[in-house]
Amino acid sequence: MILNDYLLANTASPALATTISSLAEAAIHIADLAAQNGLPAHMSGQMSLGAVAGSVNEDGDDQKQLDILADRLIQAALQDAGVGYYFSEEEAEPLCFDEAGELAVASDPLDGSSNIDTNASIGTIFSIFPADTITDNLPPLGREQLAAGFFIYGPQTVLLLSFGKEVAAFALTPDKAFVKMTWDVVIPRQASEFAINASNAAYWHPKIAEFIDDAIYGAGKETSNMRWIGSLVADAYRIFRRGGIFLYPADSRPAYAQGRLRLVYEANPIAFLIEAAGGVASNGEAPILDMAVTSLHQRTPLLFGSADQLAPLLPSTHSPS
Ligand code: AHG
Ligand code: MN
Ligand code: MN
Repeated sequence: MILNDYLLANTASPALATTISSLAEAAIHIADLAAQNGLPAHMSGQMSLGAVAGSVNEDGDDQKQLDILADRLIQAALQDAGVGYYFSEEEAEPLCFDEAGELAVASDPLDGSSNIDTNASIGTIFSIFPADTITDNLPPLGREQLAAGFFIYGPQTVLLLSFGKEVAAFALTPDKAFVKMTWDVVIPRQASEFAINASNAAYWHPKIAEFIDDAIYGAGKETSNMRWIGSLVADAYRIFRRGGIFLYPADSRPAYAQGRLRLVYEANPIAFLIEAAGGVASNGEAPILDMAVTSLHQRTPLLFGSADQLAPLLPSTHSPS
């Protein structure tokens, strides 16, 4: 089944189908650009895409060439699809394309951009919700999303997409069609891999430090394994594939009091997909999808993945139905 047939069969909203289809077209172009990184400019017409563009985004990250190009491609796709509002990691404020537009989109146009030059998988994350749920110029609770997904640009370009009930995976074929994969995307309740940036261990709060100590030295040591790619989409994709947990917790550094990752265009869309695949996604106290949105670039601690494996870090009230 190709993506457009899946969209027709799984949403009654032409606007939603058109928006996702337009994002897919933009993703094909972004994947092509990423594959040209570092080629002589006369061949690809592009400067080195991993190079710092000399600007900084609202979260203080150096913007890479590909961050900016991806953001522009996403904007053009959304305008073509008639989307009303756009919230981007790369834009300080929301953009209004059409006040009458039915839908709004939040996006991390290029996730994992520190990995562009290392040829590790990177991606584009998106969250789609009704424009009339925007309040005080901000998106609604993550629970209100109509759809969410991400494209991962790696050995395969793959789209993981959900309307809330299931997660569907589409791989890009050589002739540039997204075709549904024979993969039932379900996250097992128990697994043994954990993903955390262990170089921050000195700053972890005791609960995280004790949990990781147990995995390395304690009862879990025989079975635990660790992976950390440093691209949220790549670490998340592995967890959709074989389970495990991802931790980017708050830590004792003032700038990391709320972790590193952003609620609106990273945690909310990932959490929407994770819950649809039977996993849990939490800020350590409550489900990510129930978190109040107080600012466009607000950060949140982000713990997600296999429910039973993550349970020791979550309040007993917080587990998937
Ligand atoms: P982005 O490139 O969109 O800023 O996202 C990078 C994020 C996320 O992809 C990854 O999980 C995290 O940064 C890695 O953070 P550290 O470099 O602190 O490990
Ligand atoms: Mn990101
Ligand atoms: Mn980004």
